[in-house]
Amino acid sequence: MQVVRTIEALRSSSEALRRRFGSLALVPTMGALHDGHRALVKTAVDSGAGVVASIFVNPLQFNPNEDLSRYPRDEAGDLAALRASGCHLVWLPDVATMYPAEGATTITVAGPAEQWEGTARPGHFRGVATVCAKLFGQVRADRAYFGEKDWQQLQVVRRMVADLHLPLEIVAVPTVREADGLAMSSRNRFLNNGDRVIAPRLHAILNATATSFSCGQSVDAALADARRDLTEAGFSLDYLALVDGLTMAALSRMAPGARLIIAARLGAVRLIDNIAV
Ligand code: PAJ
Repeated sequence: MQVVRTIEALRSSSEALRRRFGSLALVPTMGALHDGHRALVKTAVDSGAGVVASIFVNPLQFNPNEDLSRYPRDEAGDLAALRASGCHLVWLPDVATMYPAEGATTITVAGPAEQWEGTARPGHFRGVATVCAKLFGQVRADRAYFGEKDWQQLQVVRRMVADLHLPLEIVAVPTVREADGLAMSSRNRFLNNGDRVIAPRLHAILNATATSFSCGQSVDAALADARRDLTEAGFSLDYLALVDGLTMAALSRMAPGARLIIAARLGAVRLIDNIAV
């Protein structure tokens, strides 16, 4: 596994990989890798492509009241995990490489970026879209792998790729969960012991709500029950909604491709999750 930190080194190493494997797959990450990230890398490796993983904690997607400096960083651990997962090349740019001082372009996606995380974290998707567009241009991969864990992010990236006619395919990988159902996340390490016990209720309540829909309960009533259950369990809810899985528009009744999405806080830790319904 090679590690590169400059655009020039990335270019020559990724072109060599493409010649060797016939195609290139990109797995964008912010590091602090866990089994969710590893599943992305393994899916990319299994596709037979040369696999490039990027590690870049992207300042542009953190808003001013989010603590960029507290974001967990573990370069040595990440490199060991990537090597063990069969990754071929790691792209580790620094902030000056990604955002040169003269840079003047950012990407704003409307549509699927406008609500939910877009409202809760102003500027977040502008940062995500901009860094992903840069990564796609830098690596020139044929496919890029994203987790369903961040469902709205996946739809925002897909929208951008379609709108800008970018020449790559976006591949979604199902959410990897702990045995108790909690979606793996680099934020889980910030849960205290008591909250770690409560946290899996998020997924359990999503599942129960989906069951209520399929038993014929109205969307509004099922969501109201879920909000009550979540509050009683100790969550403070940012949003819980049934949405169209592509446009992210709220739905008031079940429809094909619907997704149940949630963001809730336990103490200072903000958890997001989603399931198909
Ligand atoms: P990060 O949070 O590091 O996540 C990198 C990728 O791993 C994303 O596609 C995310 O959806 C996926 N992922 C995270 N937890 C997962 C889980 N439990 N199961 C499956 N996939 C999971 O998302 C970002 O970084 C950034 O916004 C990024 C796209 C890299 C742009 O900076």
